[in-house]
Amino acid sequence: MDPTDISSWLTETDEQKLAGLWSLADRIRAGHVGTAVHLRGLIEISNYCVRHCAYCGLHTGNTSLKRYRMTETEIIACAETAVRFGYGTVVLQSGEDRGISAEWLAGVIQKIKHSTTLAVTLSLGERHPDELKLWRRAGADRYLLRFETSDRELYKKIHPPTGSTRRHRIEQLAAIRELGYETGSGIMVGIPGQTFASLTRDLLLFRDLDLDMVGIGPWLPHPDTVLGAESLPADNHVPNTDLMSCKVLALARILCPDANIPATTALATLNPETGRSHGLERGANVLMPNLTPDRYKKLYEIYPNKSGSTLSAEQCDHIAKKTIRALGRKIGTGQGSRIKTTPAIGSTVTAS
Ligand code: 5AD
Repeated sequence: MDPTDISSWLTETDEQKLAGLWSLADRIRAGHVGTAVHLRGLIEISNYCVRHCAYCGLHTGNTSLKRYRMTETEIIACAETAVRFGYGTVVLQSGEDRGISAEWLAGVIQKIKHSTTLAVTLSLGERHPDELKLWRRAGADRYLLRFETSDRELYKKIHPPTGSTRRHRIEQLAAIRELGYETGSGIMVGIPGQTFASLTRDLLLFRDLDLDMVGIGPWLPHPDTVLGAESLPADNHVPNTDLMSCKVLALARILCPDANIPATTALATLNPETGRSHGLERGANVLMPNLTPDRYKKLYEIYPNKSGSTLSAEQCDHIAKKTIRALGRKIGTGQGSRIKTTPAIGSTVTAS
């Protein structure tokens, strides 16, 4: 699939042709990662954040948000719930919280790894290489850091500087991989200012980075953010719809046949009825049920009305398993790490 094919799929409107795209993605998914849908228990360990991201409700300037940080005991209890539900992975996610010390988190990771067989995925934003190294030594298996967009101008616009110089996320991903983490990245679809050309480059970058995990969800406006308060995208910009998100998801599966790709919470939020199942039928093989304790869940408001934020962990688990069974798929067992079925393609694309 070359850039021209990708661009024409992104603007395709013919339903029959799109049905062909969905079935191609689904066949590739079945052939490379099988019928299992892996469940990753999401634990939102802190909503503190030092960043000013123009899209995210956790940005540091949002003073209307009550902040929380989970204790070690609370995190371990959530990991035990993951085991009870039969999951193979927990994802510890937070804003970029300087209050999470490297040593403290290393202790939490060690406890989970010693007392369970869970894979531990971290999604904690941009952290110092020494911290990443410590957590890897403590047993963390995977790291998620979305590059959000490969368009450097748009990237700068939505990530105002924090004072300290930062390496581009694409370079940070290389460092994460170098440490031996399974490496995940991804984007939001329909960020105001995103063009079809940059979205095409994002997709090629997924392939060229040889990602182990790819997360794709629609941008959802949050009223307390710069982008959420702005007017909606112009005509030649990418719409933040579930259809467009599914096209990107299907194309990501075709470009990264053996990657683990979730039907994301953002997709389920945009379309609570069909978001998860459409995602799973159009390339995805992972769901991430939310295990965050009820009293914190509502406060992890990266965007409004987040799917699952008013439900208990039991209810989120039930919905995920029901969705998988209704599609005739199997619930994944074990850690569900990436099993490579294709040789890596050499890097030819860089961020513009
Ligand atoms: N809409 C959709 N996705 C968002 N994220 C953050 N804010 C939003 C939003 N308003 C996504 C980003 C981030 C991930 C954890 O959540 O892509 O990397």
